Amino acid sequence: MNPIVVIEPMVPADLDAAVGIDVSAFKPSELGAGSQDVRALREKQLTEELSRPFARVRVARGDGGVVLGYLLSWHVVDEVQLLNVAVATAARRQGIGRALMNDLLEHARASGAAKILLEVRASNAAAIALYESLGFSTFNVRSGYYADGEDAAEMMLTMAA
Ligand SMILES: CC(C)(COP(=O)(O)OP(=O)(O)OC[C@H]1O[C@@H](n2cnc3c(N)ncnc32)[C@H](O)[C@@H]1OP(=O)(O)O)[C@@H](O)C(=O)NCCC(=O)NCCS
Repeated sequence: MNPIVVIEPMVPADLDAAVGIDVSAFKPSELGAGSQDVRALREKQLTEELSRPFARVRVARGDGGVVLGYLLSWHVVDEVQLLNVAVATAARRQGIGRALMNDLLEHARASGAAKILLEVRASNAAAIALYESLGFSTFNVRSGYYADGEDAAEMMLTMAA
C-alpha cells in the first residue's frame, strides 16, 4: 500500500512523534545520550533545530495529520547537509523516505545549492540504497567515525548547474 503523505514544515506539536520515531530508529548512544533520558535529550535537540534559521525540518504526514517520518537538514551558503531522515518502523518501505528526500532535493535545486552532503553508518544498507537511488555517491569513508567504532560513509549529490 502506498500511503498518501504530505510533506510540511515541522511544528512544535510534532516533536513528540518525531522523538518517538528517533527513539525506535536509533540506539540512545547514536542520539548522543549517555545516562540521560534519551527522549528528553532528543526533544531538546529538535526544539533547538526548530529555532535555527539555517535548519529545515520537514515532516511527512499521513491520514489525520499523523507524523510518519521527518527530515532535518542544514542549509549553509550553497551547501545542504542532511542530518537525519527517519520513518516510523511500521510505515517503512512505502515510499515515505523517498518522498522526504525528493522534497529536500527540490528545495536544494530551488535555492541554488551546489551540493547535498551527508554521513551514514557504513552498515546502514537501507539508507545507503535510498541515497544511491537518488544519485548520491560515496566520496570518502571516515574510519571509526562513530562512538562505537563504526565507519561513516560520506556521500554527496552534486546539483546540476
Ligand atoms: C532509511 C529510511 C529513512 C528509509 O525510509 P523508507 O520510507 O522505508 O524508504 P522508502 O520506502 O522511500 O524506500 C526508498 C528506497 O530506499 C531503499 N530501501 C529502503 N529500505 C530498504 C531496506 N530495508 N533494504 C534495502 N533498501 C531499502 C530502496 O532503494 C527503496 O526503494 P524501493 O522501495 O523502490 O526498493 C528508513 O529505513 C529509516 O527510517 N531507517 C532508520 C533511520 C535511519 O537509519 N536513517 C538514516 C540516517 S543517515
